[in-house]
Amino acid sequence: MATVSTSMGADRHLWHVSAAALVTVASVAVLVLAPGATNAYGANLMGPLRTPGEAAFIAAHRGDRASAPENTVPAFAAAVVSGSDFLEVDVQLTADGYPVLIHDLTVDRTTTGVGAVADLTLAEIRTLDAGSWFAPTFAGVQVPLFDEFLGILAGAPEVTALVELKGTWTADDVETLLGAIYFRGVQDRLVFASFSPTTVTALHDTAPAIPRVLIRRVLPLDPVAVAQRFDAIAIMTRSSALAERPDAVERMHAAGLGVLLYTLNSEERWGEALSYGVDGIVTDTPSALDAWIAQTAPGT
Ligand code: G3P
Ligand code: CA
Repeated sequence: MATVSTSMGADRHLWHVSAAALVTVASVAVLVLAPGATNAYGANLMGPLRTPGEAAFIAAHRGDRASAPENTVPAFAAAVVSGSDFLEVDVQLTADGYPVLIHDLTVDRTTTGVGAVADLTLAEIRTLDAGSWFAPTFAGVQVPLFDEFLGILAGAPEVTALVELKGTWTADDVETLLGAIYFRGVQDRLVFASFSPTTVTALHDTAPAIPRVLIRRVLPLDPVAVAQRFDAIAIMTRSSALAERPDAVERMHAAGLGVLLYTLNSEERWGEALSYGVDGIVTDTPSALDAWIAQTAPGT
């Protein structure tokens, strides 16, 4: 494991250097060529803003987690062929600063190990089995590096990434992602998301050219003002939150902003979402949602 760590450390240093250069170029390009461009809804990535009854885009939650262990390479490989438009993924940093794919703050539920992700080194996390808890056939599957996810994304030009940064990230933390994103050439097929206003601000300051989605469990009184304050292209929330403020979709759309819902796994919830005119649905069952949309809202 020490060899892995040393070699990756060298790569990481190079990525930091190239990230700084690329982000500087990207920032200048945004300022000079397209002032305010990051305020626009990411129509090129998410399609046009929907009207009620229109098909929303499909985001596979932690990959196709119905058929493979969440946030692993098999889950994302399955999601790529599931009919999904987006691959939703959770990213955290290890104790030694490497971005890895895992949802919980601890490794306890989804691996053979115990402890907080933030307290474990990459070498320690890579020794864990992240597949056997789901099914014996996935025994030996590892917690992936963020770069493995980017490799899948680079090889699947038909999909886009919805990258959720778990917890609170600083600008320096965000920089650990950017070199790999630009090196893989997927910066135009990637949207960041976070519950944390601090993290969304760090993303805005560090990677202004990559769109951001703010996640809210409860919708704010004025979702447009909040999205605009964070320069987000959309707000992602829950069905129950939207049911309390059904006018939010119309208000967001009028401002050129999107609305996404998580995590919807039944035809009843999908039907409600389309009736609201939401733009995207995050689901654990992307194949089923794809088949349901093909029947329910064909050609939209
Ligand atoms: O896509 C949003 C959703 O993933 C947020 O909730 O806890 O599943 O990461 P969680
Ligand atoms: Ca997530």
